[in-house]
Amino acid sequence: MLMDIIKSRHSIRKYTDEQISREDLEKILEAGNYAPNAGGGQRSMMVALHNKELTRKLGIMNLAKFNRGNLVGSYVSKEQPSVIDDPTMKDGFYGAPTVIAIFSQGNFLFKTADAFCMAENIVLQATELGIASCIISRGEETFDSEEGWALMKEWGVPDNYICQGFVVLGYIDGEQPVSKPRKPGRVQIIECL
Ligand SMILES: Cc1cc2nc3c(=O)[nH]c(=O)nc-3n(C[C@H](O)[C@H](O)[C@H](O)COP(=O)(O)O)c2cc1C
Repeated sequence: MLMDIIKSRHSIRKYTDEQISREDLEKILEAGNYAPNAGGGQRSMMVALHNKELTRKLGIMNLAKFNRGNLVGSYVSKEQPSVIDDPTMKDGFYGAPTVIAIFSQGNFLFKTADAFCMAENIVLQATELGIASCIISRGEETFDSEEGWALMKEWGVPDNYICQGFVVLGYIDGEQPVSKPRKPGRVQIIECL
């Protein structure tokens, strides 16, 4: 059931070394490719790194420019303390063996919305396959260097594209988390006035 998949998806921040299969990765990318997209323009694109060393290299670039000092209280979220708050953590991708980088056309109004529709399709398809995931931000910053621009060129990403974010994929190391209770007041149904 779709609702079971939605509710069993969690952001996972600790992974085993086991790589996901190419077949599963292709299915996950297909799900991303069928995401809704503004104007039907299919402008966003995905680059998957299906290699633990490459993923770690990009994960280190992802965290290199992350200034914890900019965070209120130096943690990511008051509600959810994260391993990323640990100053010794160097890999923004948490050791996951695969990452999908999502790029969108830089001058397009809905570039971020399109990319995160893709990301949601990706994480739900991964969950159905028993694969753990986490959406990661700091896309633009990750590639904002000579090394980052060179990688984008090597991967065939058009010049005017900007990375909007990532989804990391792998197998969970540890226990499956339990969803937090939902905050009240976030859902309204209006039948008539
Ligand atoms: C736009 C967006 C950006 C996010 N960026 C990060 C990130 O950089 N690092 C991270 O560990 N989690 C990131 N997350 C995951 C959220 O922290 C996570 O979804 C939230 O804490 C709720 O937990 P859950 O996904 O397990 O339900 C991001 C999620 C979204 C939607």
